[in-house]
Amino acid sequence: MIILGIETSCDETAASVVENGTKVLSHVLASSADMHTKTGGIIPEVAAREQLKSILPVIEEALVKAFDSHISHLTSNIDTIAVTAGGPGLIGSMLVGVETAKTLGWVWNKPIVPVVHLLGHMYANWIDTNTAPTFPAIVLTVSGGHTELILMKGHGNFQMLGGTRDDSAGEAFDKTARLLGLPYPGGPSIQKAAENGDVSKIILPRPLKDSGDFDFSFSGLKTAVNRGVQKNPQINKNDLAASVQEAIADVLSAKAVAAVRKYRVKSLLIAGGVAANARFRELTTQRSPVPVFIPPAELCTDNGSFIASYAYFNYHPRPWQEIVAIPDANEAIKVYAKGKN
Ligand code: KG4
Ligand code: ZN
Repeated sequence: MIILGIETSCDETAASVVENGTKVLSHVLASSADMHTKTGGIIPEVAAREQLKSILPVIEEALVKAFDSHISHLTSNIDTIAVTAGGPGLIGSMLVGVETAKTLGWVWNKPIVPVVHLLGHMYANWIDTNTAPTFPAIVLTVSGGHTELILMKGHGNFQMLGGTRDDSAGEAFDKTARLLGLPYPGGPSIQKAAENGDVSKIILPRPLKDSGDFDFSFSGLKTAVNRGVQKNPQINKNDLAASVQEAIADVLSAKAVAAVRKYRVKSLLIAGGVAANARFRELTTQRSPVPVFIPPAELCTDNGSFIASYAYFNYHPRPWQEIVAIPDANEAIKVYAKGKN
């Protein structure tokens, strides 16, 4: 089955053509991240307008690349359209993908599968890999919008174990980077600055690390970094960046491994933009008693490939009249995915 996956939940406009949920035939991505770097964060209105400019050229390019011919001959090669219709995401951005997918589905007469972005991220672990993850699995999805630990017993069979009580891991990177005067998005900036920092100079708190449950809290890190900078304006920013990265990576990997042990699963899957972080990947791999699946960095951040892959393994098309953009992930899961809770 060949699926066109469309993703527009935030500041990336992405489209991919994926065969049988695992083989990427093409992927195209236009990002407005540079514009948001200038403003120090995303302005939703700007992101949505950029989505509108990019959506059709991005889809067209993905089709042309996948099938190597002109667009008018291509639509017969597509079996299904998958689109991000559930959060986390910005409503204005998400609407662009959703309404485009509905229109194309209607005009081309193709089934449409609405995908919850949060769950889509997990499927980066099934793409272009020689070894598919084995169930049951623990999945840790760490993005700008979510920090979620999930027990996955099979496709479509998942249970939320815990999540963040305040900031997501991505927000913790983004907000502390801002305090350190580093450019948006904060994750890659902190990782880069940390390369020249000494992690042993400043010890930051590890909130909820040993709380015994699977919840996270990252807002305290902001306060600690802010206090550090105010107390000592000469503080070495690279050292502080290294300590921020270490604190986040430590808590995330410790809790994921605790869940692996408690539920005696066969594999640990990491997903979401923060999974691109090298130190987090390293620490998790060192600590896990079971194989860790970590997608390549370009599949961790938003793309159309994991949306198409999710749709293949969780094939529930809906009539276009029933598909609406639902930016809240938990609401969207209730409507579009039947997690077993
Ligand atoms: O999954 P994603 O691309 O978008 C959302 O769905 O939110 O995640 C974006 C988040 C941002 O907070 C960004 O700072 C973070 O992922 N991120 C990283 C790295 N690359 C992206 N965080 C830490 N280290 C990285 N290398
Ligand atoms: Zn995402």
